Amino acid sequence: MSDVINVSTMGHQIHHESAHLHVSGNAQYVDDISLPINALHVALGVSRIARGKILELDLTQVKEFPGVITVLTTADIPGENNFGGAVKDDPIFPESQIDFYGQPLFAVIATSHLIAKQAAQLARVKVEEETPIFDIREAIEKNNFVLPPVAIERGNVEQGFLSSTHRLKNSIQLGGQEHFYLEGQIACAIPMEDGELTIYSSTQHPSEVQHLVSHALNKPAAMIRIECKRMGGGFGGKESQPAWFAIIAALAAEKTKLPVKLRVDREMDMTITGKRHDFEFDYEVGFDANGMILSFDVMMASRCGFSADLSGPVNDRALFHLDNCYFIPNVRAISYRCKTNTVSNTAFRGFGGPQGMYCIEYAIEDIADYLKIDPLEIRQKNFYKKNMLTHFDMPVEDIIIEDLVDQLSQSSHYLKRREQINKFNQQNNHFKRGISLTPVKFGISFTATHFNQAGALIHIYTDGSILVNHGGLEMGQGLNTKIRQIVANEFNVDYSVVKMSATDTSKIPNTSATAASSGTDLNGMASQNAAQTLISRMKEFLASKYQLSVTDIKFKNNEVLLGSQAISFEKAVKECYVGRISLSATGFYATPKIHYDSKTRKGRPFFYFSYGAAVSEVIIDTLTGEMKLLQVDILHDVGQSINPAIDIGQIEGGFVQGLGWLTTEELWWNPKGKLMTNSPSTYKIPTALDWPKHAKTNLYVSTGNIENTIYKSKAVGEPPLMLAFSVFHAIKHAIRSKVGQECTLHLSAPATPESILNALNSHND
Ligand code: MTE
Ligand code: HPA
Ligand code: MOS
Repeated sequence: MSDVINVSTMGHQIHHESAHLHVSGNAQYVDDISLPINALHVALGVSRIARGKILELDLTQVKEFPGVITVLTTADIPGENNFGGAVKDDPIFPESQIDFYGQPLFAVIATSHLIAKQAAQLARVKVEEETPIFDIREAIEKNNFVLPPVAIERGNVEQGFLSSTHRLKNSIQLGGQEHFYLEGQIACAIPMEDGELTIYSSTQHPSEVQHLVSHALNKPAAMIRIECKRMGGGFGGKESQPAWFAIIAALAAEKTKLPVKLRVDREMDMTITGKRHDFEFDYEVGFDANGMILSFDVMMASRCGFSADLSGPVNDRALFHLDNCYFIPNVRAISYRCKTNTVSNTAFRGFGGPQGMYCIEYAIEDIADYLKIDPLEIRQKNFYKKNMLTHFDMPVEDIIIEDLVDQLSQSSHYLKRREQINKFNQQNNHFKRGISLTPVKFGISFTATHFNQAGALIHIYTDGSILVNHGGLEMGQGLNTKIRQIVANEFNVDYSVVKMSATDTSKIPNTSATAASSGTDLNGMASQNAAQTLISRMKEFLASKYQLSVTDIKFKNNEVLLGSQAISFEKAVKECYVGRISLSATGFYATPKIHYDSKTRKGRPFFYFSYGAAVSEVIIDTLTGEMKLLQVDILHDVGQSINPAIDIGQIEGGFVQGLGWLTTEELWWNPKGKLMTNSPSTYKIPTALDWPKHAKTNLYVSTGNIENTIYKSKAVGEPPLMLAFSVFHAIKHAIRSKVGQECTLHLSAPATPESILNALNSHND
């Protein structure tokens, strides 16, 4: 398929650069890389208890199994026995302490994955069981935390309550979420000469994989090269956890001196990798007779699992987003990071932000029910106004939510439909409908300031073709498509002239994860910077060669204009080469303006905010608890879109992923701590059929980001996930119309049929 697209591609609906490869099965993932015939395969041997001590690990029969080459245990780790990036509390294999059911205890290396897997079953593990902690509340009671609690405060909550006409209290739960990336965790390690290693890893964070492999193997990072062409989805699940798989593959390659692949199957992947943190909240909200919020006191506690992983910054982001779009004069929050004997929970699209927002949105619905005022009105009343301060003292300079919500509520006919739905509900007892409009404000930047940097490296070859290397990772979100557009636009050449290399730690060092939605913001700017260096260099040389001034040289339509004459871009490149001008340049970018003091918990952690809103309409069957999403209208702000097709794909994809999280995806562990929802047959992600018949997604028309981002665009990866709150609250509206106004409604997320029935039935007596 041709990807010849003419110049001036900026803002055009170009299809994903790998779409033709995705749909034809020709896109190469790690598992598609051809291996030498002598390559070996690894399987993991795991724990059958959730907590206890290893007394004896007898692998005699495992080693004797035909086809097994050798095994890996802690004894084979020359360096650090750790794969944790932020906190070093993740053992590759435990020395003694078992912390969750399914924890890998050793690995088997064999001639095939199947053989390795069968052999792993033959291990004799003698253990002494201990009583596990699974429950968030129990962990709080026992002070069982992966990291110390964090408290924040603004204003005076007690005073705020005293001046409130009304106060409401509630306790709510929110479930976790499995990433369900289509491509599971995988790494392939190839020994090179003299102890060097090349590792193909499906990772959002190659630099971290490189460093953790280097620590485990006790070798300098310069001897380890990590490469990733693309992932079949990451969604945060490949921000920290891929290092585990890469390290085990690397240890196996070191031990056997042969190429080794570790690809876990879906069940193993779901059993051992971390998920979105589930949360428990207790809150109290104080407000006046009009529904203005005056005071908000919240306890939020999350299940972090057995180790810290990214739980610190995830829970910090939950705190940053407890306000969503609303100015709350007096706020107090305490965040508990609970240690439980379950998988170590990790980044997941939104990174704690969705969990933080969930609580205030729930509280707003409580206020609306109590005052019998439309929840949209309560939301609108409490919106931030320009330059108001968040609870961490950041002025909200770019607030557009009021206008965005006005536009959406009008275009979706929210008020009229709410009336019609209320009428329908009066006339129907069995089926109930519901509608809700919810807004989103999401902070863009890594909350740890130093991660907000990126590098790029552009080569121009003498045939005029351009190769871009940057530190970001393609995972389906369209990052490489946008960066090709940016670089083509800078040189003013056809999009097809610009090619993209695999991401490689030997080309761009010390990169941050592709995460926090900032892939294009960071790497797009770094790539633009590299392109501009090359353009200046070429202009200077051509100006002196043709005795013109630099301003007379212009790059236009695949040509370079030299005063009144024009030569092709290719010819210009060749002339620069012959003139001995370097046609390779690095680029760098560091986000300006951001700062944050983690002691006072004040500052400007975010460069800017992204905004959006959605209106969802649902129908529920009050006898079975079944729910169907009938209609969704979305209006989302992406600043000046680099590629509306990609952006709308991200918005709709994010919404559907949020829909799954809040309605169908339920994680369930049996009393021994074994994850029973470990396959698509028991864990229900949304399908194409869940996308409603009536769906409209529009981009908010604006003059672009007020901050100086790449072509005034805004990040789009994570914020749309939270648009799915509209579905959850539409379900609550439907339930409310059945149970009446006079009670507190408890709908726990995910709103599965069971949860919906529970909410309905708890008010039947
Ligand atoms: N879209 C697809 N198709 N696949 C993914 O794995 N990850 C999401 C989002 N959109 C993801 C995705 C997450 S969690 C983030 S942080 C961003 O993409 C990362 O990419 P970006 O920073 O380039 O937007
Ligand atoms: N977002 C996403 N990933 C991260 C962050 C963040 O704020 N901080 C560290 N990893
Ligand atoms: Mo996304 S959770 O920041 O990888």
